[in-house]
Amino acid sequence: MNNIDINKILCEGEKYLGKDVTVAGWVRTARDSKNMAFLALNDGTSLKHLQLVIDKANYVGELSAFMKNGVSLLANGRVVTAMKEGEFELNVKSLELLGDCPADYPLQKKYHSMEFLRTIPELRVRTNTFNAMLRVRSKLSFAIHRFFQQEGFIYVHTPIITGSDCEGAGEIFRVTTNTYADAKTAKDEAEYLARDFFRRKAGLTVSGQLEGEVAAMAMGKIYTFGPTFRAENSNTPRHAAEFWQVEPEVAFAKLPDIIKIAERMIKFVISAVLEECKEELAFFERTFEEGLVKKLEAVVNSDFKVLEYSEAIEILKNSGQQFQYPVEWGLDMQSEHERYITEKVFNKPVFVINYPKKIKSFYMKQNDDGLTVAATDLLVPGVGEIIGCSEREADYDKLIQAMNERHMNLDDYKGYLNLRKYGSVPHSGFGLGLERILMYVTGINNIRDVQLYSRTAGDLM
Ligand code: 4AD
Ligand code: MG
Repeated sequence: MNNIDINKILCEGEKYLGKDVTVAGWVRTARDSKNMAFLALNDGTSLKHLQLVIDKANYVGELSAFMKNGVSLLANGRVVTAMKEGEFELNVKSLELLGDCPADYPLQKKYHSMEFLRTIPELRVRTNTFNAMLRVRSKLSFAIHRFFQQEGFIYVHTPIITGSDCEGAGEIFRVTTNTYADAKTAKDEAEYLARDFFRRKAGLTVSGQLEGEVAAMAMGKIYTFGPTFRAENSNTPRHAAEFWQVEPEVAFAKLPDIIKIAERMIKFVISAVLEECKEELAFFERTFEEGLVKKLEAVVNSDFKVLEYSEAIEILKNSGQQFQYPVEWGLDMQSEHERYITEKVFNKPVFVINYPKKIKSFYMKQNDDGLTVAATDLLVPGVGEIIGCSEREADYDKLIQAMNERHMNLDDYKGYLNLRKYGSVPHSGFGLGLERILMYVTGINNIRDVQLYSRTAGDLM
């Protein structure tokens, strides 16, 4: 079709001024007055709408078909300057209806709660909130790639179907071609598995890390960026069953090295969003979080705090706060604790380092104290953990010991263990949850609203 992007007219209007153009889009609002009619048209190329102005005296034809929220149309007309300086609109000459939209269209001009919008995922993308969110998500993702490409990382694609459980939390979605009948007729688990596609237990990956380590042990610096899955049955605003993770893995890097990379990356991608998503951030500032832009600017311009886990526990103990989960050394910090540390105490991103080994994963490097591992979580105000990070245990015997303590099946990790047998090197990596950082930069406070389709327990639209 010969339509041009609405964004082009809004941003480069001077170029089109006085010219006839065709645009296409969906009507967001329609306003009728005695002599004039106005349609706000959006085609998704910008957060802003293009105002179509119809002078009824000169317009030939019936207008009523177009004066409805949600209809799609083609409009031809002349680009002119709008009342507001620097803005442009279209003086309509002709309209062509592409698709009608009956009066039961749910997105009428009134306030819609986020909960309501979740019930219409196929239409909520047509709201300003989701338009802005998807736009920021796209820029953020691209900035992540830019950062790692610029720093010489190789982008690898780790498998989605795996036979391991990286986080050891048993939150795997099973992948099987077996049927209900197989489950009933197999005489035991061994026979059940023998009938299955892979002849062994398989699942959707919870993290690309283990395979990322394989790639890093040959390519040096790699990152993977893709969907990960967790059957986490917790109904919180921060947990999704399907979410995207960015996972760099770096050979010849220890914990302080990977922390520096993580901080540099966060600052880089937030700067990119500040630069490239001004309109979207202004929208989120108005609708979701006052002070959003200042907050993000401060993140870019200040040093992140690095705090020992043991110190964090002391701070929490001396806080005088009544936490739901009592605080003692060994505690796996809950959202309430993370938020106290990052919001009330430091009011900026905080790397908590050296966690008790009992509450962390098997692959983390054991510190000399015998009690802690060289791991860190990056906590941010409003969201809590956005990055999980560690130096990896590079010593074969120590790794085996940690896996045995967790009663893991070593056979499932043969290849992973081989990395420690053949030319093992110190190495580190992290996982950044894309939806978590998206919540942080937009101020949207529920993970269900930073995905095109939300994926949580009991919810598959
Ligand atoms: O802390 P996690 O579990 O760490 C890992 O998976 C490591 N293997 C990563 C690595 O070192 N390569 O998860 C990493 C991040 C979390 O900090 C969080 O941002 C996000 O992934 N995340 C989730 N996001 C949404 N919903 C969930 N259920 C999430 N679980 C983790
Ligand atoms: Mg974690």
